[in-house]
Amino acid sequence: MTDARLDRLPRHVAIIMDGNGRWAKRRGQPRHAGHRAGVESVRDVVEACADKGIEVLTLFAFSSENWRRPKPEVKLLMELFMLVLKRETRRLDTDNVRLRIIGDRLAFPDKLQKRIRDAEALTATNDGMVLQIAANYGGRWDIAEATRRIAARVAAGELDAAACNEQTVAEHLSFAGLPDVDLFIRTGGEQRLSNFVLWQAAYAELYFSDLLWPDFDARALETAFTDFAARERRFGKTTEQLKGSDEDQGLPG
Ligand code: FPP
Repeated sequence: MTDARLDRLPRHVAIIMDGNGRWAKRRGQPRHAGHRAGVESVRDVVEACADKGIEVLTLFAFSSENWRRPKPEVKLLMELFMLVLKRETRRLDTDNVRLRIIGDRLAFPDKLQKRIRDAEALTATNDGMVLQIAANYGGRWDIAEATRRIAARVAAGELDAAACNEQTVAEHLSFAGLPDVDLFIRTGGEQRLSNFVLWQAAYAELYFSDLLWPDFDARALETAFTDFAARERRFGKTTEQLKGSDEDQGLPG
């Protein structure tokens, strides 16, 4: 028997790419070797998602908390980010991918900020997959920023405080205009959200893989998609409601 649900793909996939350090350690290599190997997985997964027709892919590259890592590792991650932007932007553009960098970019070196602006500008009019790289990003930071912007607009008389609702908050987050996260993936065996997509993952299906990020490839992604397709997403409704139409259940349409 075929199940139509098994063809379902997520519109928005968000990934915490964890396990680079452990991958390197297991090979007796320095941590940066793991981050470099992680870039290969990024390429593989971006291509696979674009090929599949995924609308949005959000990757957690550097969290607000990652500044606490040893200085040389932070420096290496910045350099890697620069290199990836330099090397990959043209290919992303050719593939019709729109690149967006989300997070507090003002903390980055000027050169990196400029490269981010240039990469975004080059791909701004592409209408294929949106690739979001979360860099110096934190879910709480995003919500706090949105709150600050809303408060400023209320103070300026542009917004009515009494009319502010979930939609207002969503419109002021850095993910504004994009669908909510459907599938949240974390590699590396840990089962935590780590201050990533807090607002946007309200109804996301969570998928945890024991694979370390450099070992996660298009095939592993396919397994995650198959798992996702078999999930029953109820959005607060009952299984029976999902089987029948909303009208049958006396619910508003
Ligand atoms: C977590 O592994 C990974 C990171 C903090 C960095 C992720 C960066 C990349 C995959 C390369 C750059 C990517 C882009 C998109 C520019 P970890 O170091 O916490 O691993 P561990 O838990 O094994 O120590």
